[in-house]
Amino acid sequence: MGNVAIKKQETGPLEACIAELVTLLGDRLSRVAAVRSRHGRDESHHDGADPDAVAFAQTTEEVAAIMRICTRHRVPVIPFGTGTSLEGHIAALEGGISLDLSGMDRIVRVSPDDLDCTVEAGVTRMQLNEHLRDTGLFFPIDPGANASLGGMTATRASGTNAVRYGTMRENVLGLTVVTADGRVIRTGGRARKSSAGYDLTRLFVGSEGTLGIITEITLRLYGIPEAIRAGTTCFATIAGAVDTVIQTIQSGIPIARIELIDEASITAINRYSKMDLPVRPTLFLEFHGTEQGVAEQAEMFAAIGAGNGADVFTWASQAEDRNRLWAARHSAYYATMQLRPGAKGWPTDVCVPISRLADCIRETQADLAQSGIIAPIVGHVGDGNFHLIFLYDEADAAEVAKVVEMNGRLVARALAMGGTCTGEHGIGYGKLAFLEAEHGPATALMRDIKRTFDPLNILNPGKVLVMD
Ligand code: LAC
Ligand code: ZN
Repeated sequence: MGNVAIKKQETGPLEACIAELVTLLGDRLSRVAAVRSRHGRDESHHDGADPDAVAFAQTTEEVAAIMRICTRHRVPVIPFGTGTSLEGHIAALEGGISLDLSGMDRIVRVSPDDLDCTVEAGVTRMQLNEHLRDTGLFFPIDPGANASLGGMTATRASGTNAVRYGTMRENVLGLTVVTADGRVIRTGGRARKSSAGYDLTRLFVGSEGTLGIITEITLRLYGIPEAIRAGTTCFATIAGAVDTVIQTIQSGIPIARIELIDEASITAINRYSKMDLPVRPTLFLEFHGTEQGVAEQAEMFAAIGAGNGADVFTWASQAEDRNRLWAARHSAYYATMQLRPGAKGWPTDVCVPISRLADCIRETQADLAQSGIIAPIVGHVGDGNFHLIFLYDEADAAEVAKVVEMNGRLVARALAMGGTCTGEHGIGYGKLAFLEAEHGPATALMRDIKRTFDPLNILNPGKVLVMD
């Protein structure tokens, strides 16, 4: 379900546009219903909307040609990576062309000496790490899904490593972008810093396909740490776990991953990923560094945890155990959706300054208890970021209304604490109303920017901003 009326507008001579695209792409332009349907809905609860056709591009030049055709005919274009977004980002609300970039999956170059690489937009995060395996380098940003790096750039994605390595915001050095009218531009570069002009790279990172089509990305890479220690620790209460996180961050321990999993989510993970974790509020942890550094970090962390009731530490000593642990965490959303048979899953996401995290989670839990809504909590809590995954019966209008209200209160609570309506899932069309609530008058300036980059409003229309 969504909060925006889905409408098909008269967007120009669609058939003429599609005929030109067929001339350009041949059978890489599909109008098959199943293909259109798969491209019009993401992995969230939001209603999908099928595009009129799907264009499978293979090069930047081809994307430019597609944009020139679609601009001439004023037909909307919605870029598509893997379809794993969570706020309705790829729904073709006004019809048009889904521009599938998954065929642009070449790793253009890797420079170990500069710790960077350039990839095409369709390369997935796992594909990149597989490719890097023998170089001693890795790329840390890891949303649950095996998303494309183009999609991750477009949604300013993060994941479990962001507390140490940052999000896509910190890790994109430069871009190749095709503009709405089909020009190819390059933003940023490979220098580690630059004072040259406006930072268009940062503007495109998180623009959700509404300002241009990202076709290549230059990314920072990192050396695989000499020592990695991962593990879990559980607590009597969520408050104990969250206080541990806050004190860990405040004391400057350079923890690489620190994830909160509540009891319901542990039950889900145990079932889905065949684990045997104690059903308690739990932190999944990872430390990176030298052998000695990791031991020191773990010791400092354990002391903080002990002061907050952490009572069982389990270390995943083998790489396989560690991989299993994180694979289970990455599947948490899929696991949770199976907790309540027949229910629909609505993943939401807020982020607050770390000092307010305990208050925000406590008040949210109280609100959940009062409303009777089932919503397991998982969170990238080192960033002050957490998710509720509402499990609701979509046939029960009263329950749906409660979830909508609860989500609204969650966002209002985060904003009142100086936080944001979304730490990592983005606006899509699911959080349009909240963008205005968060940014106020700055939203008008965002609209001006959108008009400059996309005067015809054909780039993923209906997402991020309500245009008048
Ligand atoms: C996660 C997704 C829901 O953290 O963002 O699992
Ligand atoms: Zn997440």
